[in-house]
Parts: sequence; structure tokens; C-alpha cells
Amino acid sequence: MILIRNVRLVDAMGERGPLDVLIGEGRILSLEGGEAKQVVDGTGCFLAPGFLDLHAHLREPGEEVKEDLFSGLLAAVRGGYTDLVSMPNTKPPVDTPEAVRALKEKAKALGLARLHPAAALTEKQEGKTLTPAGLLQEAGAVLLTDDGRTNEDAGVLAAGLLMAAPLGLPVAVHAEDAGLRRNGVMNDGPLADLLGLPGNPTEAEAARIARDLEVLRYALRRSPATPRLHVQHLSTKRGLELVREAKRAGLPVTAEATPHHLTLTEEALRTFDPLFKVAPPLRGEEDREALLEGLLDGTLDAIATDHAPHTLAEKEMDLLRAPFGIPSLEVAFPLLYTELHLKRGFPLRRLVELFTDGPRRVLGLPPLHLEEGTEASLVLLDPKERPVDPQGFASKARFSPWTGWRLGGWPVLTLVEGRIVHEALE
Ligand code: DOR
Repeated sequence: MILIRNVRLVDAMGERGPLDVLIGEGRILSLEGGEAKQVVDGTGCFLAPGFLDLHAHLREPGEEVKEDLFSGLLAAVRGGYTDLVSMPNTKPPVDTPEAVRALKEKAKALGLARLHPAAALTEKQEGKTLTPAGLLQEAGAVLLTDDGRTNEDAGVLAAGLLMAAPLGLPVAVHAEDAGLRRNGVMNDGPLADLLGLPGNPTEAEAARIARDLEVLRYALRRSPATPRLHVQHLSTKRGLELVREAKRAGLPVTAEATPHHLTLTEEALRTFDPLFKVAPPLRGEEDREALLEGLLDGTLDAIATDHAPHTLAEKEMDLLRAPFGIPSLEVAFPLLYTELHLKRGFPLRRLVELFTDGPRRVLGLPPLHLEEGTEASLVLLDPKERPVDPQGFASKARFSPWTGWRLGGWPVLTLVEGRIVHEALE
């Protein structure tokens, strides 16, 4: 039994407390205290349901030099995540039931965050032949996506949506038009011209989202079940507007935004530092502001990390050659707590929802509210400020575009079904 004393509670329903939370048998036993062997002083901290990340690259199998299940899932619990969806763009891609099963079993044995693998929508993520959705789901896949690749053939995406619909599996898309994006390494526009770098235009995202929404309309018309489209890492104002209109028209579409698109802009590229190179690219301030509005009005369902670890040697190459990607599992919540809630007054309740019930809904999971009887997959967050120090990351990617930023809201205790999986109490 664990007792967390005098702690404020925050979930998608709101804030309350301070209360004394008694945890045992994997559940919240009482919000009125009780006897426990381990007592944690929660004064000044707040307790939230465990976070779910819809989008993390853990690189296993094949690129364990960048990350593996152990380092990635340890980074996850240190970031307050009790559940995580791993992307299938590994080497080889996760496109068979055997591969999904192997990941699930290995992750379970580690006893850290719970892994929910995404499987490739097409064999080898080549965009041609669909994978066996039913068998992948039976093996434990919760989402189908060719993430990292851009599903050029609309007919294949349509067939994928039709195949996944009766299973209730969402299909997630990396919405960038390959032709418009070309070899862009940053946002297209005057700054890219000034820096002499190839640009990736906002229209590459918007054009692809527009197409994918038409594909969804078609699948909806042709399927007796509801096809579900999830748009990954939205980065543009126009892309957001398209999703907003589609939602208003009742289309079954959901969307996520990343910590980097919510806190950084293309201005960071003035340094020519590949730490800021990511796909889709960091955009302008107007796009970032639009994303913040999208978080508030429900156009965005979730904040998802797109945690994309690479080796430092790769990220130290020049901007044209370095790989795309930003690691963020360990800083995502403190970053948004500080930059959105503390600095801009973004409601804490909604922020927590975007890390918990929002992503849970995308996967069709029930909400997790802090009540007696609720599963004790929880995170205790400490508002005390600390600077970001990537040298202390559990992730193998020990670098960060946010190095030195002073943040509050650090996870100091993470529990999965009542078991402590991360503890950094002072
Ligand atoms: O920046 C990115 N990195 N975007 C992607 O779509 C893929 C990811 C990766 O796997 O490194």
C-alpha cells in the first residue's frame, strides 16, 4: 500500500484536493487516506492519470544504437507515461503479427510503461500491399500506420481504412505530399531563402490532409463500419483548419500535435543546428498560434511526442545530411506545463486531458479519472523548477533542443497498476 498525502488531483474532469490518496491492489482504494507502509508527501504536487503517448520511435528492432525498448520505456516512465504507442518504422518495419507479439512480450517483461505497438499499414511500409490487419490486432497492434512514409497511393490508404474499419482500428497518416515536400529540410519561406536551405512548404501538409480527408469520406460512404483516420504531428494553420472543418462536418478524424511544434518555430533554424531538424518542419509563429487554438477548441485530440532518437554523431552532421527527429519523452509534460500553462494560462485540466483521455479516445480506450476503484496508473508531478539536462536522460538520445530551459511539472513518481516504475522524490 502507498499513501500519497496532501496532494492535488488533476484529470480531464477538473482539479480538486488536496486529498490523501491510498493505493493498493493496483487501484485507488480511497481518497480519504488510510494506513500504508509507504507514505509519500504530495504537498505542493499534483497527481494525474498516467500519460499515453500515441507516437514514439523506440527503434527496436534494428536500430538499438539509437534507442531500444528498455531505454525508451524507461524514458517514458520518467516522462510520466504509463502507456506508449511505438511506431513501426524500425529495421525491418513492424509489419507481421510475430513482430508485434515479440515487441509486446519483451516490453511486458521489462515492467516499465505498457507498450501498445502500432503496425505498418503496408508491407515493409512500401505503400503497396496491405498488412493483415485482423492478425496484427490479435497480436496486440492498436493502430496502423506507415509513419515516416507518406502513403502516396490514395487507393491503398482507402483500402486500408476499409480493412481497419470493422476492427475499430485507427489508421494514422504522416500527412506530407512527397512531391511538394521534396528535399526540404526546414519550413519553406523567406527565412529558408535567406539561409539558403531547401524548404518544405506548409501546402505539402495541407494538400495531403485535404486528400486524406476525401479518402476518408469515400471509405465512410463505402463501409458499413466507421473508418477512423488519425492525422499525426499537425504543424500548419491550414492543416488544422481542414481538420476542424472535417470534424464539424462529422467526419471520424482525430489529430495530434507535438511538443516541438507547440513550443518552437522555424526561427530556431537560424543556428543551422540539426537538433531542430524534424519532419514535418518547425513552422512560423502563426502556425504555432493556430495549433495552440486547436488544443483549446478540440480540433487537436492529443499531444503526442514523435520522440525520434538518433545518435549524437548523426545529429552533429550538417543540416542537409543529419536525420529528421527530436527526442522528447522525458520533457514533454514539463515543457507544456511551463510554456502553456504557467506562461500563457492554458487550463491545466485540458492540458492533462491532452496527455490522458484525449489520446485514450483516439485508441478507443475508456477515460481514466481519479476516483476510488480506478486503476492506479498515475503520475505525481512536482511544480518545482529545474533546467533541462539531456545528460540525465534515460533515452540514448542525450541531446535536446530545450537544453537549459527552466521547467516545472516534472514527474517525480510514476505508477503502473499500483507498481512504482519511476521515483525521483527529493
Ligand atoms: O522527424 C521525424 N523523425 N519525422 C518522422 O516522420 C520520422 C521520425 C524518425 O523516425 O526519425
